[in-house]
Amino acid sequence: MQGGHAPRRGLALEEIGLIEDAAVLCGGGRIITAGPQRSILGGPKLRDLLRKNRRKVREIDCQGGVVIPGLIDSHTHPVFAGPRLVDFEKRITGATYEEIAAAGGGIRSSVAGVRKATRKQLSDHVLHAFNAMLSQGTTTIEAKSGYGLTLEDEIKSLRAIGDAARHWPGTVVPTLLAAHVVPQEFTGKEDQYVDLVCRKIIPQAESDKLATFVDVFCERGAFTLEQSERIFAAAQKAGLGVRAHVCQFTPSNLHTLLSFHPASLDHMDCVAQHDLTLLASQDTVVTLLPGANYFLGHSGFADARRLIDSGVAVSLATDYNPGTSPTPSMAFVISLACTHLRMSPREAIAASTINAACALRLQERKGSIEPGKDADLALFDVKDYREIGYWFAWNRCSQVIVGGMEKGGLCG
Ligand code: NIG
Ligand code: FE
Repeated sequence: MQGGHAPRRGLALEEIGLIEDAAVLCGGGRIITAGPQRSILGGPKLRDLLRKNRRKVREIDCQGGVVIPGLIDSHTHPVFAGPRLVDFEKRITGATYEEIAAAGGGIRSSVAGVRKATRKQLSDHVLHAFNAMLSQGTTTIEAKSGYGLTLEDEIKSLRAIGDAARHWPGTVVPTLLAAHVVPQEFTGKEDQYVDLVCRKIIPQAESDKLATFVDVFCERGAFTLEQSERIFAAAQKAGLGVRAHVCQFTPSNLHTLLSFHPASLDHMDCVAQHDLTLLASQDTVVTLLPGANYFLGHSGFADARRLIDSGVAVSLATDYNPGTSPTPSMAFVISLACTHLRMSPREAIAASTINAACALRLQERKGSIEPGKDADLALFDVKDYREIGYWFAWNRCSQVIVGGMEKGGLCG
């Protein structure tokens, strides 16, 4: 699949560069060449090279399956201690996410577990999730802190992500989400918590080199637009990239947030018409998270068609977390994108690969099968790429290649 280095917009999101009977040649962890088998393997120079290096070359017969770039999950919250079954049951009986949060459930109810847990317990939990993602074709993951909400516990969460990343073959992009919600002990002193985030937590995450991005949950009941801007400004001052959870339940004016050039704005279920033109003119990617709408039992989903047709760069991610989207499966998200966001299978695949790479500013290295990019590939045991989103809740990923090495999948 060809992708280039820019996010796909509009009709270009459909162009996945499908090649039948293809071959991919990898070396030194990178893709050397890819194309029709006949032209890749039939050339005399390459035939000679392969003959001379027969012992060193490993050939993987994909048996007519589908090979795509390793999937990129550009939005996850893996540092938590356990599931939130009380919230789950309350929603079944009709309570909404915001009502549960206002009554002390929601994000705050995952905090005690993380504060009590050791770094090792958390990193084991994170690694377990990373491996579940890998077995379903994900080779790059963005991973947020966000359930510690003290200097010590946010730093512990980021260290747990780093520890898990060192034991995992794929690429991990760590994000500080200390501004996930105001912790209980700061009730009535919300701005003091924002001060702590800006003056202490962000600078330490940066000086200890624990985070690439800073995220904020800009929403009613979490952080206001003004507080979010302060957090973005502090991140920018520290030299970190920014991204935000925004417009999940209530619309926000995106103009000032966009002036910080966030890599991605996520959820975006209720975007105002006047922000669409602005979004379409920027490199900021809009990351849609339909797993959260599904798990919260919402009948409404983000208006992906309006975003794509307006020229906004759209990507997809799982939003893996214990409250709104406990799934490690990008294939399930692709399925939801097709069935509930009215994205075509081609658009959903491009949104989960090249556009997701752009959402992490990794498009020079990731997101497409092109010479020079990292040899991260996911092989699916299906005959047609459309089956990836068709067989929902069924893991059809049979093999995963990370940096040119077999690492996971059902046979890995
Ligand atoms: O992306 N919206 C904010 N954060 C998460 C939910 C986290 C939780 O409920 O634990 C999300 O959906
Ligand atoms: Fe999230």
